[in-house]
Amino acid sequence: MTQTAHSAKQTVLVTGGAGFIGSNFIRYFLRRNPLSIVINVDKLTYAGNPENLKDIEENENYHFFRADICDKAVLRGIFDKYMPDVVINFAAESHVDRSIIEPEEFLKTNIYGTYSLLEIAREKGIGLFLQVSTDEVYGSIESGSFREDSPLSPNSPYAASKAGADMLVRAYNKTYGFPAIITRCANNYGPYQFPEKLIPLVIINALNGKLVPIYGDGKNRRDWIYVADHCSAIELIFKKGVPGEIYNIDSGEERENIEVVKMILKEVSERIGKDVISLINFVKDRPGHDRRYSMDSSKLRAMGWSPSYFFEYGIRQTIDWYMENRQWWQRIISGEYMQYYERQYGAR
Ligand code: NAD
Ligand code: TYD
Repeated sequence: MTQTAHSAKQTVLVTGGAGFIGSNFIRYFLRRNPLSIVINVDKLTYAGNPENLKDIEENENYHFFRADICDKAVLRGIFDKYMPDVVINFAAESHVDRSIIEPEEFLKTNIYGTYSLLEIAREKGIGLFLQVSTDEVYGSIESGSFREDSPLSPNSPYAASKAGADMLVRAYNKTYGFPAIITRCANNYGPYQFPEKLIPLVIINALNGKLVPIYGDGKNRRDWIYVADHCSAIELIFKKGVPGEIYNIDSGEERENIEVVKMILKEVSERIGKDVISLINFVKDRPGHDRRYSMDSSKLRAMGWSPSYFFEYGIRQTIDWYMENRQWWQRIISGEYMQYYERQYGAR
């Protein structure tokens, strides 16, 4: 290893860095740690988009590799070349609805991919492995909040595959003393989120005058965190977190889906000078749809972290970004995504 995991100048291998959170993290991290080196390993699935990092392509401390985290031989070559101090595993199949239709890729990337990264990272004696996980592994909770030691109770193939990965990371830590940390974050939103997820879907459909599908009665609750707050939490955890530990990351900004959708539609209506509230369309519920997610993140907050974005402010920022970056999403919605969308909802 070139440096210790906690030194100021580090080589950080990020997987899934061409996706939503990974790209936001790389930009955030390089801005704050300009001497560090970031290696981005991404397969570029439908959700991976090199345009998400166009502004830092020329940064000499940034290196991109198109590779599958399931491919140990390729990973070994990348590790040998750069000898990373830290691995942050964002790479995943991430959309619950897709996991219901076609679970296989979720098992491959989220479970086998995590295993293969763990193996190579262990073989190479990496200083720290940070597994980016989700509140969905705990399942749904009627009242109260899950703590890091709450039992896992995943309800979708996506959540089960992420829980499987968490279990492997835990086992590597317990069995081999491998220095790994798990973070579990609430629902993210913000720039560069793929338009299949609720918040960008609502913004884009509203701008396009398309119906906005709300599953079931719209009373499912999620805790929404602005992506920059997730990035600051991860940075703090990999600098100050303790290997073997799990850290919940949440904002406390819990809302019913219908409330979120109405807020966005009202904001968009004001911006475009046209009432789009009538686009709300209640549709058949998602199978196994978790009613409510809620986590207690007091462990992380005791380390000095707190979110910087109130939901209303973050939503306005996000709407502005999607309005100012139409080309980014127009290219996406004219491609493969559209076929998926039409399979899900029919042509609209
Ligand atoms: P995303 O779908 O936008 O991006 C995933 C990225 O991983 C893409 O760039 C994709 O090309 C890449 N990828 C997929 N399979 C790969 C493979 N086999 N090898 C290499 N790269 C591969 O997802 P996201 O929303 O940015 O989520 C990132 C991580 O954060 C995931 O692990 C997800 O489970 C977790 N997470 C997401 C949220 C959320 O609200 N989005 C909340 C908590 C945790
Ligand atoms: P989503 O963004 O898919 O995140 P997750 O399922 O990981 O929480 O969905 C957020 C919530 O919005 C969830 O309760 C499902 C609901 N939803 C809709 O009502 N309509 C939609 O079109 C989508 C994509 C989600």
